[in-house]
Amino acid sequence: MTGMMQHNFPKLKNDRFLRAARGEEVDKIPVWIMRQAGRYLPEFREFRTKHDFFSICQTPEFACEVTLQPIKRFDLDASIIFSDILVIPQAMGLTVEMKSGVGPVLPQPIANPGELSRLKIPNVEKDLGYVGHAITLTRHRLEGKVPLIGFTGAPWTLMGYMIQGGGSSTMAQARSWLYKYPEDSLKLLQLITDVIVDYLVMQVQAGAQALQVFESHADYLNDELFDKYSLPFLNQISKRVKSKLNELQIPDVPMIAFPKGATYDSLELLAKDQCYDVIGIDWTVNPVEARERFGSNISIQGNMDPCAMYSTEKEVYARAREIANTFGKSRYIANLGHGILPDTPISSVEAFIRAIHSI
Ligand code: CP3
Repeated sequence: MTGMMQHNFPKLKNDRFLRAARGEEVDKIPVWIMRQAGRYLPEFREFRTKHDFFSICQTPEFACEVTLQPIKRFDLDASIIFSDILVIPQAMGLTVEMKSGVGPVLPQPIANPGELSRLKIPNVEKDLGYVGHAITLTRHRLEGKVPLIGFTGAPWTLMGYMIQGGGSSTMAQARSWLYKYPEDSLKLLQLITDVIVDYLVMQVQAGAQALQVFESHADYLNDELFDKYSLPFLNQISKRVKSKLNELQIPDVPMIAFPKGATYDSLELLAKDQCYDVIGIDWTVNPVEARERFGSNISIQGNMDPCAMYSTEKEVYARAREIANTFGKSRYIANLGHGILPDTPISSVEAFIRAIHSI
């Protein structure tokens, strides 16, 4: 990927999201929705009848089209490139299938440390370059309407899928590794971290204007495990990405960590380390307590319960306003506390966005 100076992207017209991420003043609270391009949209479901999940991810034209679907429909303040966190395990040589009604399945997970040798170290440009191409194309097609977010799964979350072979209510096998094979676990996490750093730098070079790191499996970690197996790698990712961009003389971009289900103490440690500009919180975290514990140097993103979208339109509106009023207009990005669910009413999405922008 050649330097971003050659891209000549259209000028950004709505920078609310980026301003809030950096702690600058905003005219209105910015709002976007995790998984905003997804199955609750009839146009996405229609598209999916024609194309397999990973071929959408791998075909820049397709990924771009799907990324733009929610932007055309709603008054959102950010877009997020259509992809999946599991493209990294794929690039490291593991087979990943998206099974309808089940979710992601890795038929040959890493069964024991001896099998770590099955993993290959990808060439990010070659093996994940398609994500960069999708980002560049989407930046042009967005015509500067809103910024484009790039993303990755965090090391522990990806390790979970690689060992467990899919989703799990306990992550027992992956979590057992942390006690049975602490050295090999750290080795695997470091291997994944190195890939993530190159992958995120590539995304920014391609045109990503912010980056989110999804630590979706933080809920399986107590403070001891978070401190050893998640936090150091999250911090390392942010520091190394920012310093590499600096070396390449590319302006850095706001970085968001979303450690879903992390304890208050774990969240507080992450906030105090100041490696991220924004922390995403799930719906179980109390907004007042989060503000108190995180301090005033960090922005917060979240956190309406995705299931609250099933209440009446009036209630969605009122609840969204209440949450936003509690966080306040400064250093706040409105979102749900996790990805939007596949059968969420469109009218709830509209009410949610309207409510946030009414403040
Ligand atoms: O709009 C967006 O947010 C961008 C697209 C996006 C997808 N996955 C598309 C997707 C993003 C940001 C992700 C991230 C992702 N993928 C995470 C982190 C966020 C989270 O939810 O914690 C995780 C854990 C995954 C892994 C994954 N991918 C799961 C568990 C599933 C199955 C559950 C589900 O919602 O179906 C997927 C599939 C997936 N990723 C879909 C979409 C639109 C649905 C699959 C389909 O279309 O058949």
